[in-house]
Amino acid sequence: MEFSAVLQARTSCRAYTADPVAPEVVTAIIEAGCAAPSPFNQQPWSFIVVTDPQRIAAVAAHSAAVRDQLAKDSGQGWVAKYDPAFVGQAPVLIAVAANPKKIGLGAFLGDTDAHVKAASACIQNMLLAVADRGLGSLWFTMYDRAEMAAMLGVAEGLELVGLLPVGVPAAPGKQPPRKPVADLTTYL
Ligand SMILES: Cc1cc2nc3c(=O)[nH]c(=O)nc-3n(C[C@H](O)[C@H](O)[C@H](O)COP(=O)(O)O)c2cc1C
Repeated sequence: MEFSAVLQARTSCRAYTADPVAPEVVTAIIEAGCAAPSPFNQQPWSFIVVTDPQRIAAVAAHSAAVRDQLAKDSGQGWVAKYDPAFVGQAPVLIAVAANPKKIGLGAFLGDTDAHVKAASACIQNMLLAVADRGLGSLWFTMYDRAEMAAMLGVAEGLELVGLLPVGVPAAPGKQPPRKPVADLTTYL
């Protein structure tokens, strides 16, 4: 796909078919993530690939419980209507974790979240690689980070930065509108 087409095709997918995603496709998506920049090229990211349907169902159930609590705590009506069941439809979940010890010179510059920045670049690469293959995904964070890290066996000391369901979209997606660049940009 043309790069500009990939940028447009990448949209957060919240409905998946039951079609599987081949292991080599999952590897290629992770390889795309690993092409991201990182401080000192320390590559602070690591990945957990979940394909066990019971584990995926448990993640979806946890997210629904978090949604219920969030709906209560925030009082936001839309939260109560948000249904994370789509997470349970995806045949693959890829968790991306980051190592806070791998921040390069960030340690001296007060840039203590440089590992999260690098993992975020990694995740964006992965989302674009997914879109390039006509697959769907999204950066999913509706979970209790400590509980989800424990559920997925994220190693002690690593931070869970995102969970990416990956699958065949059940319907075509469309990006919501963006703010005009002119409103966001200052030229000096
Ligand atoms: C850090 C981060 C966390 C997000 N968490 C969630 C989430 O938990 N659930 C969800 O449905 N979307 C989540 N999103 C996706 C955003 O809602 C989405 O990117 C935004 O609405 C723009 O839509 P688009 O991705 O289709 O362009 C998250 C995005 C980012 C960058």
